[in-house]
Amino acid sequence: MSERTAVITGASAGIGEATARALAEAGFHVVLGARRLDRLENVAAELAGTAFPLDVTDPTSVAAFVQRVPECHVLVNNAGGARGLERVVDADEDNWRWMWETNVLGTLRMTKALLPKLIASGDGHVITVTSIAGHEVYDGGSGYTSAKHAQAALHETLRSEHLGEPVRITEIIPGMVETDFSMNRFDGDTTRAANVYRGLTPLTAQDVAEVIAFAATRPSHVNLDSIVLKPRAQLNGSRYDRSE
Ligand SMILES: NC(=O)c1ccc[n+]([C@@H]2O[C@H](COP(=O)([O-])OP(=O)(O)OC[C@H]3O[C@@H](n4cnc5c(N)ncnc54)[C@H](OP(=O)(O)O)[C@@H]3O)[C@@H](O)[C@H]2O)c1
Repeated sequence: MSERTAVITGASAGIGEATARALAEAGFHVVLGARRLDRLENVAAELAGTAFPLDVTDPTSVAAFVQRVPECHVLVNNAGGARGLERVVDADEDNWRWMWETNVLGTLRMTKALLPKLIASGDGHVITVTSIAGHEVYDGGSGYTSAKHAQAALHETLRSEHLGEPVRITEIIPGMVETDFSMNRFDGDTTRAANVYRGLTPLTAQDVAEVIAFAATRPSHVNLDSIVLKPRAQLNGSRYDRSE
């Protein structure tokens, strides 16, 4: 069988970078997309993969990226994140716009652009990294939880719209993962970011990547619809055991 191609968005750091490593290890040719091309090229070089610049919030950038991908078997919609933690009454519209553009419209653009190639491959797979924030709400999180709920709804709709076609649809639903996520959410505030992981052992990016690679390497007739993974010390988006 010839080598299968996996496109991973947001592969310059965190879960996306770890997923690129795990899928390359599983035998895929990995095509990496993100805005920080220097980081992306270093990862791609290590994995004998390909790196192209990608800003999922920019339709022109998405079109240029997709044009450079002749065939695609797996798309991992991973680019995304959170900005701020304000209550609704104090909501920052710029933060909301960033979260909706990146998580929701970014996933829509990439999926829409690559679905024809995924289906034409005869064995396509859309894997979307949402979050437990896509399935519950917490105080201060409405910009992120609403975006992740929308991303999850968009993703789930694909399962029904393409039933009977050769494409699998898997939602990855992580709880807390230690990456640059909190530094980005809190605009580089290291104390605030470190506090998120205080007193417990969070998931690592590799923990999530291994689950993504597992889903991507099941036989073609096996569709893992959704997978929830959390640290043992996390119950949900607001309740943790921080006694470590
Ligand atoms: N960490 C957690 O606790 C957690 C939990 C559940 C779900 N998630 C989800 O997991 C995904 C990955 O997050 P992470 O934890 O790995 O965070 P991260 O370390 O901050 O990585 C985010 C990645 O997204 C990319 N990205 C951001 N904006 C982009 C854009 N406009 N176009 C293309 N790429 C873009 C970044 O690359 P560039 O800056 O180079 O573009 C980076 O590679 C996100 O969807 C996040 O919501 C994270």
